[in-house]
Amino acid sequence: MNVLVIGNGAREHAIIYKLAQSSLCEKIYCAKGNAGTLKLATNVDISPLDFEAIVEFCKQNSIEFVVVGPEEPLANGIVDYLNDFGISAFGPTKKAAMLESSKSFCKNLCKKYAIPTAAYEVFDNFDKAFEYIKDAKYPLVIKADGLAAGKGVVIAHEGKEALMHLQDCFNNKKFGQAGNRVVIEEFLEGEELSYMVFCDGENFVPMLASQDHKRVFDGDLGPNTGGMGAYAKAPIVNEIEDDCKRIIKQTIYALESEGIDYRGVLYAGLMVVDKKPYVLEYNCRFGDPETQVVLPLLKSDLLDIMIKCTNSNLNDYKIAFENRFAVSVVLASKGYPVSSEKDKPIFGLDDVGDALVFHAGTYKKDGKIFTNGGRVLNIVALDADFRKAIKKAYEAVGKVNFDGMHFRRDIGKKALKYL
Ligand SMILES: Nc1ncnc2c1ncn2[C@@H]1O[C@H](COP(=O)(O)OP(=O)(O)O)[C@@H](O)[C@H]1O
Ligand SMILES: [Mg+2]
Repeated sequence: MNVLVIGNGAREHAIIYKLAQSSLCEKIYCAKGNAGTLKLATNVDISPLDFEAIVEFCKQNSIEFVVVGPEEPLANGIVDYLNDFGISAFGPTKKAAMLESSKSFCKNLCKKYAIPTAAYEVFDNFDKAFEYIKDAKYPLVIKADGLAAGKGVVIAHEGKEALMHLQDCFNNKKFGQAGNRVVIEEFLEGEELSYMVFCDGENFVPMLASQDHKRVFDGDLGPNTGGMGAYAKAPIVNEIEDDCKRIIKQTIYALESEGIDYRGVLYAGLMVVDKKPYVLEYNCRFGDPETQVVLPLLKSDLLDIMIKCTNSNLNDYKIAFENRFAVSVVLASKGYPVSSEKDKPIFGLDDVGDALVFHAGTYKKDGKIFTNGGRVLNIVALDADFRKAIKKAYEAVGKVNFDGMHFRRDIGKKALKYL
């Protein structure tokens, strides 16, 4: 069948890389894609939020299946929209995507169904929230309720920081509608873990647990980014995998009980505190950059799994992953995450040997590849030995270069203590 993948990043490149290996897959299109997706798919210049144009394109190109990468089109109801036109799509409906698009919905669901999560309060106006932060215990975590492209959460160490974020949400409207409500929650100290599963509304199949590196500098310092690297399988999961599965089971039960049929990737962002996982949030799609380390290790047919999720017949599915580790290093542009340069030629992409290169912000012009935003490339290496995977990833990174390029030098280091 012909497939359309929605999105522009390295996550979508990794999805396309895997779909291209499927015996069920004929032609792949990507809206809008980048210089990497171009090699395996036909890029089409349609915005992921232009549902009308997407339907039109699907009809004209006999596309039977649409895979949605990012959260925004899901939260806006792209799956419902496509389904209304008889087009099958991988991902949750608008209602189900609320698990990600509303932090208060997520927290209230956790509370109602006793899913472990940090204690919290929800506020719909500045005055009440301000009252609360006056005599609260710090640090405190303050979250804009809606989608905020990873910028809506602040860990406040004192009243002044909390006040500033409340003002940004309610008064300065920094996040638009997304900041009209906030969740204020208890700060949990521990290690984060990304636990993604495929879900068909009733059954689920886990992927390998992974870990992201959110901060821009080594040692988890500096401002938050979209993610500077990842690795899988994260060994921290080994002792707590049953608890992670229980959380997913409880979540699906909770959703079903609320009349929500959740199909697609269910991603639990967990904080492991004293060997117990707590839900920080859910995402309603594949993680970026986690997907770039999880999918290269997948042995099963990705398109087959996605179709089974969408048709609700994942029951008893036996998923297979390679018995190796994957490490991914993100190469970013000068100034990222505060600002970012563009249009710098990229060198060395053909010299990386066995390593995989997933493109994020890139474009091709006159046969050359140029940077096109903050996160530019993901360099991924696989090996049965975790340390060797790290070494191979950095050897490949050493071959690639563009003006102003920077990256973290400690991706995967956190995992070594568990090995
Ligand atoms: N209760 C919490 N305790 C400690 N850290 C938290 C808590 N909630 C969120 N964080 C931190 O903030 C980051 C962003 O929060 P998250 O809920 O994942 O929002 P989003 O990914 O939508 O920005 C998390 O990855 C985690 O590092
Ligand atoms: Mg998050």
